[in-house]
Amino acid sequence: ANETSTGSESKSLGDAQWEFPRDKLIIEETLGEGEFGRVMRAQAWNINGQNGYSTVAVKMLKGEESLSEQRDLLSEFNMLKEVSHPNVIKLLGACTQKGGPLYIIVEYAEFGSLRSYLRKNRSSGFECNDVNMFQVGNPMYFSDSGDICHRSSAKLTKRDLVSFAWQIAKGMAYLSDMKLIHRDLAARNLLLAEGNVIKISDFGLSRDVYEGDTYLKKTKGRVPVKWMALESLEDHIYTSKSDVWSFGVVLWEIVTLGASPYPGVQLERLYHLLKAGYRMEQPDTCSDKLYDIMLMCWRENPYNRPSFKDLVHRLDMMLQESA
Ligand code: ADE
Repeated sequence: ANETSTGSESKSLGDAQWEFPRDKLIIEETLGEGEFGRVMRAQAWNINGQNGYSTVAVKMLKGEESLSEQRDLLSEFNMLKEVSHPNVIKLLGACTQKGGPLYIIVEYAEFGSLRSYLRKNRSSGFECNDVNMFQVGNPMYFSDSGDICHRSSAKLTKRDLVSFAWQIAKGMAYLSDMKLIHRDLAARNLLLAEGNVIKISDFGLSRDVYEGDTYLKKTKGRVPVKWMALESLEDHIYTSKSDVWSFGVVLWEIVTLGASPYPGVQLERLYHLLKAGYRMEQPDTCSDKLYDIMLMCWRENPYNRPSFKDLVHRLDMMLQESA
């Protein structure tokens, strides 16, 4: 890097370094869709030092989106430029030139989202209904408590599940060292690549920490209530410790093979329940050790929660024991 360059110069140099020609991209099918964004599978010609075509994932906006969605996608792009870790999704390039939509090109994770992968690995043929996590006041209640996953999967062992948790903690420890807060850590935003490697993804809501270790979200956007720490629900405070709370919910998602957290609890009631000390109970399939970790992640005072480094250590020990 050129030490004498100004911030804006290095930024444009960075963009040039990542720019990928649109005409070398063959867009295929949709991999996932959010409210504003869409991820498509594509073939990219000679990308990232690979000869010939490679399968990649391309993130884009769905239509004529407002400036704030544009900004979120750009912020995800800028975030991804800064990071490099085996458990964080890798940026491969971007199409940023005018005359076409903004495309962010990342590595392809062949097994898709951790949530869908866990649910596919349930051996029962039970139709799993889902409560939309963003919808306030959902009148419907679909029971998806532990009883539908009591038959353990032939494909995934308990050790595989602990390994997923360990890898997520590793990636998150890296991000928190980088002063990056994810803000939307959930099984739906974790991807699984070849060799059962976890890739932390969906940085659309993530923010750099500029002041101290707290990000204060100013505007009231749509928020993943059932993954949020008390202080995020209460005061829109986001820190690595609020990511740790979300990690606890992800642990719960993992041990239930992708169930929806707080089944039957309406979003507008959740804050008062948590404030009164209520926490999700220990799933049938969950060891005491893992449940203890969840409860630590859900401590009311953020400072009393473990750090991601602590979590890596605890999960490491659990992996050693089951080796
Ligand atoms: N769905 C969303 N992002 C993806 C990716 N990078 N690879 C595979 N499926 C995805």
